[in-house]
Amino acid sequence: MKNIYSNIYSFNKKILKKTVNYLKQGNIAGLPTETVYGLGGNAYSKRAIKKIFKLKKRPNNNPLIIHYYSIKNAQKDVILNNNFLKLYKKFCPGPLTFVLKKNKKTRIDSLATAKLNTVAIRFPKHKVVRKLLKLIDFPLAMPSANRSSYLSPINANDVYKEFKNKLNIIINGGKSKVGIESTVVDLTEKPRILRPGIISYNDIKKFLKIELSVKKTKIRSPGMLKKHYSPGIPVVIGGKPRSNNHAYIFFGKKHIKKRNYFNLSKKSDLKEAASNLYKTMRKIKEQGYKKIFVAKIPNFGPGIAINDRLTRASK
Ligand code: TXA
Ligand code: MG
Repeated sequence: MKNIYSNIYSFNKKILKKTVNYLKQGNIAGLPTETVYGLGGNAYSKRAIKKIFKLKKRPNNNPLIIHYYSIKNAQKDVILNNNFLKLYKKFCPGPLTFVLKKNKKTRIDSLATAKLNTVAIRFPKHKVVRKLLKLIDFPLAMPSANRSSYLSPINANDVYKEFKNKLNIIINGGKSKVGIESTVVDLTEKPRILRPGIISYNDIKKFLKIELSVKKTKIRSPGMLKKHYSPGIPVVIGGKPRSNNHAYIFFGKKHIKKRNYFNLSKKSDLKEAASNLYKTMRKIKEQGYKKIFVAKIPNFGPGIAINDRLTRASK
C-alpha cells in the first residue's frame, strides 16, 4: 500500500532509528502488529501513557497491554507462572495476551495498568514492532490505534484516518494479517479468556490440558464493555437489507453477488473471515451505507471472536 499521507513511513533503517529516538522522548507512534495497528509509547513514562489515553479518549479505568521482545524483559514487570510458560512456548511471539500478577519492582506507570495489581503482556510477532522492541530498553504500552469504542485499524491509512496529523510517525507495515485484536487470557488464577481472538478457547484448553474458567466477574477489560468495535453506523445481527443504503455481511460458499453484499470468506474459513471483518466494516462505512445487517456466523474457533466483536458493535 502506498503512503499517501506525509506522516506515514515505509519501514527502513532510517525510520527505525528515528522512531526509537521519538519513543525515547516519550512520544507516541502508530505501529503495525500482526493483529491490528497500535499506538505505541514507553510503558515506563507517565508522559507517554498520558498521551495515549488522551489521544484515544480512553477512560482511565481501562488498562493497556504492555508489549515485550522477550521473557527476560517481561520478568522485570510481572510474575511468570507455569501456565504462562506453556502457552508462551506454543504461541509466542503471536496474537496472545496474558494477564499476570504485577512484580512489585515494576517500573510500569500506574496509569497504564489502571492501578490494578495485574499486568496484561504480549509478545507481538510483526517484524517491525519486534525490531523496535529489540532496540529500546523499555516495553511498549500499545492499545489499538483507534478512538475509544470504534473499530481497530488494520493498515497505516486506517490509523491516519483515526488521528490525522496528531501523530508524527505512523509506520506502514502492510495489512495486519490476523485482523482482530489478540486473545486475552487471565492466568492469575484458573485460566480464563477475557477477550476471544484467533487463538481460541479450545486451542488454549487443548494445550494446557485443563478446563478453563468461564466465571464472569466484574468488568476488567474495556473489550468487555458492551459497546465497542463500532463502525460508526448501526449494526444489526440477523435480518436482511431492506433498502439500497443497507449493506449485508455474510459468510460461506453460497456466494451471492450484489453490490451491497459482502462475503467475509467465500471458502468458509473462519480465520480468513476474522481477518476480513474490520476491513469490510470500514469499507461499508466509507462507501456511504447507513446500516449493516449481519448473517449468522458459525460460533466456534475464531467464529467466537467474530461474533463477540459483532455483538458489541451492535449495541
Ligand atoms: O492485539 C492487540 O492486543 C492490540 C495490539 C495493538 O497489540 N492491542 C489491543 O489493545 O487490542 P487494547 O488496549 O485495544 O485492548 C486491551 C485489552 C482491553 O480489553 C483491556 O481491558 C485488557 O486488554 N487489559 C489490559 N490490561 C488488563 C489487566 N490488567 N487485566 C485485565 N484486562 C486487561
Ligand atoms: Mg482496542
